[in-house]
Parts: sequence; C-alpha cells; structure tokens
Amino acid sequence: MIMSKQTLDRILQSQGFGARKYCRALIDEGEVTINGQVAADYAARIETDGLVFTLFDEEWTYREHLYIALNKPANFECSRKPSHHPGVLSILPEQFSWRDVQPVGRLDHDTTGMLLLSDDGAFIHAQSSPKRHVPKIYVATTQEPVTDALIESLKSGVQLHDEPAPLAAQTCRQIDAHRLEIVLEQGKYHQVKRMLAAAGNHCAALERIAVGGLTLAHLGLEEGEWCYLSPEQLALLMPAA
Ligand code: URA
Repeated sequence: MIMSKQTLDRILQSQGFGARKYCRALIDEGEVTINGQVAADYAARIETDGLVFTLFDEEWTYREHLYIALNKPANFECSRKPSHHPGVLSILPEQFSWRDVQPVGRLDHDTTGMLLLSDDGAFIHAQSSPKRHVPKIYVATTQEPVTDALIESLKSGVQLHDEPAPLAAQTCRQIDAHRLEIVLEQGKYHQVKRMLAAAGNHCAALERIAVGGLTLAHLGLEEGEWCYLSPEQLALLMPAA
C-alpha cells in the first residue's frame, strides 16, 4: 500500500471543501477534528490512507477518487449545465461538484436507475469506451404489448436513421405484457427508446437496473439514494471474460 502524507489544508481542498485559504480558515476556526481532537495546525502532514476526519460535525473518509452509484430518480438531468430539470449532482454532497464528479455516460431526464459517477477521468473514459462492451441492462415499459416479433426485431437488429448499421440488443426477454428486459453493449443517444420506436412500439418508461455485473438490487438503493462503490463492486463493472 502506498502511504501518502499531505498537509491538512491540501487534504481538505482535495476532498472538495474549498480553496486552500478557505480550508485553512476552517482549520484555524477549529471546525476540523481527527480522532476526536481538534486539528488546529493546517501545515501538519497527515497520513491520508485510512484518514477519517470530522468537519462541521459530519464524518468524512479521505478518498483519492470518488466512485459512486446513484439510483437516479426521474426529472433530473445528467448534463453539467441542466436546462429544464435539476442536475443529478444536486442530489450529492456539494463538495463532490467541487471535485469535478461527473456522470459516467448519461441517462435521459425521464430514465431512472443506476447511474455511475466519478472524478477519476481514466475510469470514466474506460467505462464509457465502446471497445469495452460493458453490458447495460434496462427494463423498458412499452406502450403497446410486448410481442415475440418485437423481441426478435430487437435481438436481430433495427436500423436507426443516423446509424450506419442496424443495432441489436445483446439479449432481450419479455417480463410481462408491457415490460421487457433489454441488454445493450453500446450507449447511443436515446438508444432503447429509438430501438423500440424503430421496432414499432413506444417506450413509456425506462429503468437501468445494472451495469456490467453490478445490479441495483445488489446495492439496495432506493430512488434518489447513492453509495460509494467498494473495490469489489467496481470489479463487477468489468464485462465477464
Ligand atoms: N436508452 C435510452 O433511450 N435512454 C436512456 O436514458 C438510456 C438508454
């Protein structure tokens, strides 16, 4: 394990609590405690690995990077500059925005379910790369009843007007009269909705229930709830070999 010591003002800054000057002021004012002791010296070098500190009476664990799963509610936008609805970042603690946390890919404002967020550019890039074929599992509620022909079209591929070749679901199965589970490897704009429309139906509601092997059920998150992902949970995001 790499041990890393940093001054307390830099630690607070790195965790998104504000500019260094502001963080120094917080420390000077006795707002930060470590192991029950007020940490009054902003220049003290502190081991970051395993560091737990309290700021404004709330406990925080030092994290070099943030890896988060949110069960996204409807009527939130994934855009960093939301226009018609609040942004998903408004659901998370304010300092995460200061750390430049971003959604990994996007869900439409009316899509619910698993949204990953991180401030680790390499992770965001790797997860979003089409080369990695990370399967995403959706439950779509359809306006018209689900038919065998619909499932067949989605599995064999449908032509979307701005795509060079038909797009097919990796797998697709009926859940009940108006719901199907669809697994996609790509993440094209409005892909599920456009595929359903191209196959002659209409998507009335959409939920993403899993990314890779990590499921919402596994995380036990209610709509609007979020959690940090453990290394084991992050490993589940990799496609099965
Ligand atoms: N496909 C869609 O149509 N919308 C989403 O939000 C995700 C996948």
